[in-house]
Amino acid sequence: MHLPRRILVATRSHDEVVAALHARRPDLECRGAAHTDVTDEDLRWADTYVGFKRPPGAATFGSVRWVHCTGAGVDSWLAPPALEAAILLTRTPESFGPAIAEWTVARIFAVQQQLAELAVAQRDHRWAPRDARRVAGTRALVVGTGDVGGAIAAALVAVGVIVTGVSRSGSAEHPAFRTMHAVDALPRLVGDADWIVLALPDTPATRGLFSQDVMARCRGAVLLNAGRGSVVEEPALPEALDRGWLRGAALDVFAVEPLPASSPLWDDPRVMISPHCSGPTTVAGAVDGFLECLADLEQGRLPRRVVDRDRGY
Ligand code: GLV
Repeated sequence: MHLPRRILVATRSHDEVVAALHARRPDLECRGAAHTDVTDEDLRWADTYVGFKRPPGAATFGSVRWVHCTGAGVDSWLAPPALEAAILLTRTPESFGPAIAEWTVARIFAVQQQLAELAVAQRDHRWAPRDARRVAGTRALVVGTGDVGGAIAAALVAVGVIVTGVSRSGSAEHPAFRTMHAVDALPRLVGDADWIVLALPDTPATRGLFSQDVMARCRGAVLLNAGRGSVVEEPALPEALDRGWLRGAALDVFAVEPLPASSPLWDDPRVMISPHCSGPTTVAGAVDGFLECLADLEQGRLPRRVVDRDRGY
């Protein structure tokens, strides 16, 4: 592969990333654009594309020979029509786990402390005492035990939650998981959980995993999803909430994003919605991650973060 020289930065904060990249590597030519504004001419100019999402409507990738994804999930690049096999695809080494762990802990405490109900009472000038429920001693099932799931587990253990992990293989590298199961045990495990935290990428193996059948086996858990919306059978959620299979849901990701205004989830007081922002890519993280992969290429090595297209991450 020719060494990358013309870098098209199509991240959300592209101007800041271009400026930071230029300061570190003035020998590289960099251009920035929102991914929605990338033109065919940009793609003919660039040899490298840095961004989370594919430019909509880009028929071909022009001269681009390397795509460096600045998000954890690479589904935008593997969904049909998948990026040509000849184009190198890497994924940022930036660690999103700590931020997503805070997102998770914030929602669990919000539920137990009943913050939404207190806010309504305050708005109405109503003195309505309610006892906060303890987080310590509750049980969480964390599905997906990679960097993100591991950070979530560590944060939950730190506040006294009893954590069980579920992964494809049934093992996890992260020490926070003391009890682990393989994914086929999921339907059996959900009935014991107070919190079910999904930290999975979108792959053929994870799509629809949290199905209506699995929901029907829950006994009043709160579902938290910070992975990908496709993992949950979203149309089944209202029934799961109405029947009490789920006590509530905190959702950062959805089958269709932005979540359509017509979705019943918006108006359901048992559902906490955040617009896919639990684990933001930072400017420093994007730049460091890109330069780490570039250094590997410049030293003649395949970057450690090459995406395994069969596994989907
Ligand atoms: C966000 O969803 C990411 O994949 O980084």
